[in-house]
Amino acid sequence: MKLKNKIAIVTGGTLGIGEAIAREFAREGAQLIILGRNTDRGTSVCKDISSEFGVKTEFYQIDLNDSSAIKKTMDDIIKKYSNIDILVNNAGIATQGTVESLDEEQWDAIFRVNVKAPYLICKYIVPVMRNNGSGSIINIGSSAGLVGAWGLHAYSATKGAIIQLTKSMAAQYAKENIRVNALCPGATATPLLDNIDQEFIKMIPMQRMANPIEIAKGAVFLASGDSSFMTGANLVIDGGFTAI
Ligand SMILES: NC(=O)c1ccc[n+]([C@@H]2O[C@H](COP(=O)([O-])OP(=O)(O)OC[C@H]3O[C@@H](n4cnc5c(N)ncnc54)[C@H](OP(=O)(O)O)[C@@H]3O)[C@@H](O)[C@H]2O)c1
Repeated sequence: MKLKNKIAIVTGGTLGIGEAIAREFAREGAQLIILGRNTDRGTSVCKDISSEFGVKTEFYQIDLNDSSAIKKTMDDIIKKYSNIDILVNNAGIATQGTVESLDEEQWDAIFRVNVKAPYLICKYIVPVMRNNGSGSIINIGSSAGLVGAWGLHAYSATKGAIIQLTKSMAAQYAKENIRVNALCPGATATPLLDNIDQEFIKMIPMQRMANPIEIAKGAVFLASGDSSFMTGANLVIDGGFTAI
């Protein structure tokens, strides 16, 4: 098992890509701390994962729009867990709109969840990793952070921002054995893309969306010793979308 006895935080682990990452981490022996808003979904995902893989899981209900809730939750987690080996900043929202159609509150809201929350969580978790002498942070970007995205102006700006934050943090903390990488999925079959335009799928060289497990396998690689010399990188899993 690649992550035996490791402790991992996965934000947005209640659904979609985050849930798949939590499951694949558990399959590899990791203990899970899952964050999300929906308590019913969070507790049921934790229960399922524990019974399927025999690992400890805990759900923390949190709205990542709320900076003081992030501080309180991180304080609670740090008090309870002496070590955090892996942090996956996965939770994200995608608001449709252009610079003309988005209003300021929509713009601020997407930056709060997709960029400010990962920044704050890192602020509290990096010192824990430093004290423990190692850590792996995975920021979930997107192909929309690498190339432009029609009608998703704020979303693609947040994903570009998280990819750049990843690189700066990676350089900063490499000497302390804290690796920071981005994982950039392309279109993936989750509730986020329930209303995807079928024309968009024709633009993907592999002509299909990813299964969330195909993204989660990349997260296992980045979290584990298999990627021990990798930091500041983007692992792109997009069916060839950004290759052309
Ligand atoms: N699906 C794709 O095609 C795709 C492609 C590229 C990148 N991504 C990225 O991959 C990540 C996961 O996407 P997904 O498709 O799995 O999305 P999803 O199915 O909509 O799930 C989003 C997750 O984030 C959590 N979340 C959202 N807002 C939150 C908030 N304010 N506070 C706390 N938790 C919140 C949700 O949990 P609750 O509902 O319980 O709060 C849920 O667990 C995102 O960063 C997304 O941008 C997705």
